[in-house]
Amino acid sequence: MTDIVPDQESQSREIARTDSDPVADPGLPAHVPRPTDVDPAAEKRAERQIATMFGLSSVMAILFCVAYFTLGIGENPTVFLGLGASNVALGVTLGLALLLIGVGAIHWSRKLMNDTEVVEMRHPVRSSDDDRTEAVAAFETGLSDSGIGRRPLIRNSLLGAMGALALPAVVALRDLGPLPPEGWYKTVWREGMRIVNDVSGTPIRPEEIRMGQLINAEPDVFFNPEEYDSEPIEGVELQAAKAKAALIVVRMQPDDITPSQDRENWGVAGILAYSKICTHVGCPISLWEQQTHHLLCPCHQSTFDLADNGKVIFGPAARGLPQLPIAVDEEGYLIATRDFTEPVGPSFWERDGT
Ligand code: FES
Repeated sequence: MTDIVPDQESQSREIARTDSDPVADPGLPAHVPRPTDVDPAAEKRAERQIATMFGLSSVMAILFCVAYFTLGIGENPTVFLGLGASNVALGVTLGLALLLIGVGAIHWSRKLMNDTEVVEMRHPVRSSDDDRTEAVAAFETGLSDSGIGRRPLIRNSLLGAMGALALPAVVALRDLGPLPPEGWYKTVWREGMRIVNDVSGTPIRPEEIRMGQLINAEPDVFFNPEEYDSEPIEGVELQAAKAKAALIVVRMQPDDITPSQDRENWGVAGILAYSKICTHVGCPISLWEQQTHHLLCPCHQSTFDLADNGKVIFGPAARGLPQLPIAVDEEGYLIATRDFTEPVGPSFWERDGT
């Protein structure tokens, strides 16, 4: 801890040449009051300037939110000087919001806070109780000198600016993904939708799947939207829909399967369908062990038993793989009988530990 000696002018004159210190310490120059120390009008002007900066910072934070919601991105971007206007506007407004708080704080300290020079003497690191008491007193003096209690205009505008800075953070959370419940609980699967090979788009007959085989599959609506009275799904929307609906179809001996009571008719002759998306953090899975009926996630080794309702038997996944109930249509192709009954992908608070 250090001693703070406010009257350095007289002290610096005493710190002169000694035997152990052949170079005279010039000390600190005499303190010169600033215009804001002696002129109330200058002080008021500085106060208004600082509050203006904090106020403008709040405006920038609000403009950030306006730009976020109004400027186009993705397939219909708003363009400004050949650049994405959204990126430019978000960067500029957030940057200015932060900058104005910083510049306002610097201006405040330079113009209005106590700027009397002090000398701090070196001491052992451990401070005495007296020093601690003195430090607390110095801190309180600093608080008092900053005028934070006496200048409600600055204090309140600063608090407002800092509070407004939370808005961009909250608004940006919107980018984490689709809003519940539609975006989280539903995929494009629905009753009667054919299950097709994810590469060729051809529908799958049960007899085409060999014992022990795994097929990566997708909903037919991506290939034949008109069959389902659906508009073609394209671009980013298609990517998101594919990621959620991705499926694996496996065939095993019917006797090996131990379905829970509510899943007894969810398969066809030993063929079961599960989400391809790991419930840990969402890696696509297809490392399949025919003999054990285990499906292994390559990312962190979560292992699911597909003969036992997709239960987790190893690894960090907190819940089983969602299963898609399937059947066969009148033409003999595999179809879904409904959507998944639980959210696919990484777990959030719906974890049930199964
Ligand atoms: S993503 Fe599958 S175990 Fe981590």
